[in-house]
Amino acid sequence: MERLQKVLAQAGVASRRKCEELIRQGRVEVNDLKVIELGTKVDPQVDIIKVDGRAIKAQKHIYLLLNKPKGVITSVSDPKGRKIVTDFLKDVNERVYPVGRLDYDTEGLLLLTNDGEFAYRLMHPRHHIPKTYLATVKGVPHGSDLEKLANGVMLDDGMTAPAEVEYHDIDPENNTAVLSITIYEGRNRQVRRMLEAIRFPVVRLKRIRFGSLGLDGLQRGKYRHLTPQEVKDLMKPIS
Ligand code: URA
Repeated sequence: MERLQKVLAQAGVASRRKCEELIRQGRVEVNDLKVIELGTKVDPQVDIIKVDGRAIKAQKHIYLLLNKPKGVITSVSDPKGRKIVTDFLKDVNERVYPVGRLDYDTEGLLLLTNDGEFAYRLMHPRHHIPKTYLATVKGVPHGSDLEKLANGVMLDDGMTAPAEVEYHDIDPENNTAVLSITIYEGRNRQVRRMLEAIRFPVVRLKRIRFGSLGLDGLQRGKYRHLTPQEVKDLMKPIS
């Protein structure tokens, strides 16, 4: 027996959090009875589970790694008609959604999946998955500035956790530097805000690693499927 929200997420209905909302909204039925209790246990092999009156089917899970270009929204729809990440997945028929988000102007590694449980686990703050970014900044920070970032800086939502920060490239002529920053949290616009806090505004931001995964020459706007081993590695239990 499994929790209803987990079964819904695994069937690709939506992320686990969204599935909890669907249950609370009374949109989920188990064996023709409306269920609004979040802890309800079901047997996905036996029970007939419906969302908005439609039975859910087990669907094949897929896991994609996209090299997101800048100027693209991390969303599966946009009322304003801007480019969205799923525009780059022309041959994918499954309804996938992004694992976390990259800002409109951030490029690089983004995972997408239809496995709500996988997305839930990777986004859970307890997971502390390292995410590495290359940040091009205006100005050339000193070593002491990098140390501040590494130790933690105060943002409006609290201190940042320790990070790893290194010089990747310095261009004194153009007065810019490229830093490599690895963070273990996933707050909104975190890298941009950390660099703003030490007064080195970001002019370009690219995520180059997510956990054990890198971009490995994947061209901008292209995607690939993760291997079963890569999925397994990302799903390792939280220590
Ligand atoms: N940090 C940011 O500032 N932006 C992103 O898109 C990701 C991390």
